[in-house]
Amino acid sequence: MKILPTSRGGRRSARVAVACAAVALVAACSSGGSSSGSSSSPGAAGSSASSGASGNATSGSITWWASPITTTSPDPRTVLIGAFEQAYPNIKVNLQSAPTDTDTNRASLITTISGGASSPDVFMGDVIWPAQFGKAGLAVPLSQYLPASYWATFAPGLVQGATYNGQVYGSPLFEDQGFLYYRKDLLAKEHLAVPTTWPELEADAVKIKNAGLAKYGYVWQGASYEGLTCNFMEYLGSAGGSVLNSGMTASTLSSPAAVQAATFMRSLITSGASPGAVTTFQEGQAMSAFATGQAAFLRNWDYGYSYSQTKSSPSSVVGDVGVSPLPSFPGQPSPGTSNIGGWNLYINPHSKNIAADLTFIKWMAGTDAQTILATQFSEIPTTTAVRDSAAVKAKNPVLAIVGQTRLIPRPAGTAAYAKVSQAIYTNINSMLSGGASPSGALSAAASQINSAVSSSGL
Ligand code: GLC
Repeated sequence: MKILPTSRGGRRSARVAVACAAVALVAACSSGGSSSGSSSSPGAAGSSASSGASGNATSGSITWWASPITTTSPDPRTVLIGAFEQAYPNIKVNLQSAPTDTDTNRASLITTISGGASSPDVFMGDVIWPAQFGKAGLAVPLSQYLPASYWATFAPGLVQGATYNGQVYGSPLFEDQGFLYYRKDLLAKEHLAVPTTWPELEADAVKIKNAGLAKYGYVWQGASYEGLTCNFMEYLGSAGGSVLNSGMTASTLSSPAAVQAATFMRSLITSGASPGAVTTFQEGQAMSAFATGQAAFLRNWDYGYSYSQTKSSPSSVVGDVGVSPLPSFPGQPSPGTSNIGGWNLYINPHSKNIAADLTFIKWMAGTDAQTILATQFSEIPTTTAVRDSAAVKAKNPVLAIVGQTRLIPRPAGTAAYAKVSQAIYTNINSMLSGGASPSGALSAAASQINSAVSSSGL
C-alpha cells in the first residue's frame, strides 16, 4: 500500500502533540546575576512618567537597524516600514541593513552602542541577547516605558524570555522555531511517510539520494556559528539532555544524551545523508540548496516555507514542500524538540528619539505588522491575537502546526550565553568534520562552558 507523505497516520501515530512555549521560554529566562551598568542608560534613569515617552509620538525620524528577515522579494523590512509610514506619515524610518549572521550583527552593535553612538535608534536583535545587553546597559529597559497591559498582548513566555533582572529589554517582533521541510513529491516517489524519528530521516535521506532523486538528502546548519548551537540543541533536547544546570552555574553536557546527539549529527555526514559541506552551511546555504531542488529534507526556521514557495527566491519547488515538527529519537517523546529563536525590537540607550522609537515598536506589535509578518513571510507572530487568528493560520502552514511543536530554549538567561554558545558551536563543528570524537568535543565544550559561567561572561 502506498503511504502518502502527508499522511498523519502510520509512523506519525505515536506522535504526541505538545505545545510548551510558556514552560520552555520561562526556563530560558532566569533573571541571571546582579545587574551592573544598566543604571548608566537614559532608559534606566528615566521613567515613563518623567519622560512622557510612551509611544504616542506622531512625528520624528528614526533609524532602524535590522538584518534581512528573509531574502524573498519584496523585502519584509521595507514592507513593514511602508505600512508604518502610512499609519504615521510624519515619522520617517531609515533602514540600516544589518549583517545576516547574528554573531556578526551583535558584535557590530556592541561596538557601535558602547562607543556612544545615538544611531541606530531601534535595533532588531536576537531573542538570546537580553541578558548580555541588559547587563552591559546596551539596551533601554522598555518596561520602564511600556505598561503591563502592553506586555500582556504577547504569547506566553515571550516577554519572560526578553526579561533580564526584572526589566523587559526587547519587544517581541517574531518568533522562530525549527521545522522539518520535506519534498512531498520525492517522498511519494519512494513511498515514504514523513519521518518522525531521526534514524528514519537519515535512512530516508540516504534512500532518496541513492535513488538519484536529489543531490543531497538532508541539509541543515552545521557551520561554526550560532545556528549550529540551535541545531545541536534540537538533537540534545530530543535525546533528553541539557547544556547547563538550572542555576546556570555548571555544564551538564557530560551526559549520555549529549553523546547520543553529537554521535547522530556526525553520522548524518558519515552515512551520506548530509553532505560534508553542511559543516560550512548557515541558513542561507541550506535554504538555497533545498529551494533549488538539490535536497530532499531541510531543517530551517519558519520563513523557510514562504521562501520555498516564492518562485523568485529563487525556488524551483513551489507546491512540492511539506512542513512538520522535527523528528525525535526512538523511545523519546515525539515530536523532537524545536529550538526557540526569534527577534525582538530594542532601543539604543543613546537614542535621541525615544518617543518616536516607542511609537514604531508599538506599531510593530500591532495587528497590521504582525499579520504582514505571518501571512506574507510565514513568520510566527508574537501577539496572541494574531497568532490565534484562524484567517492568519489559513495563510501560514507553519503557524498552523505550531501547536504541535515541543520547544527547547537555548540557555540564554545567563549574560555569559555568547561564550557558552561559542563553546558548543566551535567544538561540535570540529567534531562534525572528524576533528574530534563526540565525547572529546563535548568534554572540551563542557570545560569552556564551565569557565564562561564562572567568569563575568562578557
Ligand atoms: C534565527 C533565529 C535566532 C538564531 C539564529 C541563528 O535568526 O531567530 O534566534 O540565533 O537564527 O542563526
